[in-house]
Amino acid sequence: MIVSISGWNGLVGTALRLSYQRVANVKMLQLDRTCSEFVLGISRIPWNPEKGVFDAQPLEGTNAVVHLAGEGIAEKRWSSAQKERIRRSRVDGTRLLVDGLRKLQSKPSVLVCASAIGWYGARGDETLDESATPGQGFLAEVCREWEAEAAKATELGIRVVQLRIGVVLATAGGALTKMLPIFRLGVGGKLGSGRQWMSWIHVDDVAAAIRFAIETPSLSGPVNATAPSPVANLEFTKTLGRVLGRPTLFPAPAFALRVAVGEMADDLLLSGQRVVPKKLLAAGFSFGFPTLEPALRDLLVPKARPAPLPSAPPSGAVATYPT
Ligand SMILES: NC(=O)c1ccc[n+]([C@@H]2O[C@H](COP(=O)([O-])OP(=O)(O)OC[C@H]3O[C@@H](n4cnc5c(N)ncnc54)[C@H](OP(=O)(O)O)[C@@H]3O)[C@@H](O)[C@H]2O)c1
Repeated sequence: MIVSISGWNGLVGTALRLSYQRVANVKMLQLDRTCSEFVLGISRIPWNPEKGVFDAQPLEGTNAVVHLAGEGIAEKRWSSAQKERIRRSRVDGTRLLVDGLRKLQSKPSVLVCASAIGWYGARGDETLDESATPGQGFLAEVCREWEAEAAKATELGIRVVQLRIGVVLATAGGALTKMLPIFRLGVGGKLGSGRQWMSWIHVDDVAAAIRFAIETPSLSGPVNATAPSPVANLEFTKTLGRVLGRPTLFPAPAFALRVAVGEMADDLLLSGQRVVPKKLLAAGFSFGFPTLEPALRDLLVPKARPAPLPSAPPSGAVATYPT
């Protein structure tokens, strides 16, 4: 099977390709923003979403496309120029990709396109599965446009899965890595009221969900990629403190977050969504980390190494190994 991946170098792209590296019959192709020409036999395909340049011909025969590329959401303050970069990188980038797929003789059978639980907007305590109505706000609008561009691939006979990804927990990047320095210093705490929901997912489960979406023909349309047990920010805070063995007594007041990060505070930190992965579970997906504390422990607590076996006894001696 050939799987082509955009956003290769990102948090999720890296987890996905590492997980595929262990699979013998999968070849991966990288949609690469840094190379300028496709060389036969090299698995990097040039594409430049910012300039709208993409020759999809090297994707001929690829079985699946995983589209993860997009300007970082929380990397910079949301000026209007930055918001436009976030929007265009996803909406125009997805259109460019789908237009390229349109020209292929042998099209992939599936496109798995990232989206985000931001699609639902700020929804209080409402439980949100894939049948929920769309939300409002900047991220919700971007997600709606992004998913709509991906959906156009269905007209080409391609199965499309828009993966509404939750807060990805990882130590190589993303939200958790931003929190860790503060929590490790023992000065972490809830954000705002702490009542806003956090629908999280362990990075290994995101990679597994993408692979599952590729391999499950019955899965199509929007699919929530969040663990089945979302938590309120206060519970997340306490759990993280417990796992790190640090106090969590220093709340970050809403006004301070608004001063620190601007509009992003309300969309990303002070409001949330209580999302459940109804379609993944119904299709038989099994989460490696369905609950928060084991997920955080897996990521943050060094694993005990097995004790080395005693060295081989001199010949003739009788060895006793611990059982
Ligand atoms: N991480 C999360 O918590 C989370 C939650 C919900 C949704 N998502 C979505 O899932 C996707 C993958 O997430 P991620 O955490 O892996 O994101 P990420 O670490 O920010 O990686 C995104 C990748 O997109 C490419 N990229 C960066 N700027 C770009 C631009 N201006 N135009 C086109 N491509 C650009 C880069 O890959 P290359 O250098 O390889 O091109 C980058 O590594 C993203 O679209 C993200 O919005 C993530």
